[in-house]
Amino acid sequence: MTSNEIRRTFLEYFRQHGHRVVASAPLVPGDDPTLLFTNAGMNQFKDVFLGREKREYTRATTSQKVMRVSGKHNDLDNVGPSHRHHTFFEMLGNFSFGDYFKAEAIEFAWRMLTEVWQMPAEKLVVSVFKGENGIPRDTEAYDIWRKFVPADRIMELGSEDNFWQMGDTGPCGRCSEIYYVRGGSGADPEIEIWNNVFMEFERSADGTLTPLPAPSIDTGMGLERITAVLQGKESNYDTDLFMPLLTRVGELAGVRYGDNEQTDVSMRVVADHARAMTFLIGDGVIPSNEWRGYVLRKIMRRAMRHGKHLGFTEPFLHEMVTVLAREMGDAYPDLRTNQEMIVKTITAEENRFDAVLKDGLPRLEAEIDKARESGAKVLGGEAAFRLYDTFGVPYDFIEDTAATRGVSVDREA
Ligand code: GLY
Repeated sequence: MTSNEIRRTFLEYFRQHGHRVVASAPLVPGDDPTLLFTNAGMNQFKDVFLGREKREYTRATTSQKVMRVSGKHNDLDNVGPSHRHHTFFEMLGNFSFGDYFKAEAIEFAWRMLTEVWQMPAEKLVVSVFKGENGIPRDTEAYDIWRKFVPADRIMELGSEDNFWQMGDTGPCGRCSEIYYVRGGSGADPEIEIWNNVFMEFERSADGTLTPLPAPSIDTGMGLERITAVLQGKESNYDTDLFMPLLTRVGELAGVRYGDNEQTDVSMRVVADHARAMTFLIGDGVIPSNEWRGYVLRKIMRRAMRHGKHLGFTEPFLHEMVTVLAREMGDAYPDLRTNQEMIVKTITAEENRFDAVLKDGLPRLEAEIDKARESGAKVLGGEAAFRLYDTFGVPYDFIEDTAATRGVSVDREA
């Protein structure tokens, strides 16, 4: 099954069960100052959960564009080495606003996985909240799960795993995760694929929990992970969501994905960040030195740095937009409408930073090497200042690049 079919069959299953198929909200949250970027499918429904907004439907399903690069949910540093973390990804979700609750949500999830996608039931394990911090064990979820799985396949975990909240404040609740057991000795013998959140409280800034007007359901399943599982791949990057990008990067750089771990890491960063920048710019974010634009710029510069490691001497990132418009344009038609604008924005940023990279990056890397050899693993203030003052290397880029190699910068000096 292709990723496009996986997305489509998920939405179709829930549509058939009375859910409204709602379009993904933009990555820039409408009027929520608590969020840098949309970080979960439930964001666009936050006020519906809180009872402050009414919709003409009580069940919804989405494939939501999300970014996890800040705050409570931040995966930026994992991207590259990890095979299952991303800055940008798509989250499949089904939602109930005071309509169905735990029994139906669990049954929907189980049938979607084992009947629609025909995943082997014996490969699935689940978790429920064990009770912690004054919030009781989720006995109800445990009892419902027992209708589908034996007791030895229900884990009982604490708040870290089984209590979900989108940020420091807002709707939250106990949750129940579903894991796929790959087995073997790979990096992820057991991988979390789906989170069913039983929304019951609103957390206020002082930490207190107030019951929501009606218990509700919020679920989240990363399309990239479920695609890896359904396509029998160990790594998200081996799926049809990433391979076309990795192949194109390889063609342009003259390297092949899978040949060398060091170039593989750089190729994964480029593929991941190309998706993030394409969708962010498509949703109206422009690289700048402030707030959302700054995060975009940081991601773009990180991708350019890894491009240098792959041997690129000319701008190349804008080439990825063509691949994404071709592969994902049916699900996100805006990608095709905005293609030219996205290409122009990326090319301009690549050209702007290219001179800095050409002169500054080899010097920065030489300083990082020196700092590592000295044993102190600190890049001196004078060297950092020279890189900035003479070669125009931005301070945060120095710090970020050094940090990836375990070196800190003497900011005080
Ligand atoms: N809102 C559920 C999740 O992101 O896991």
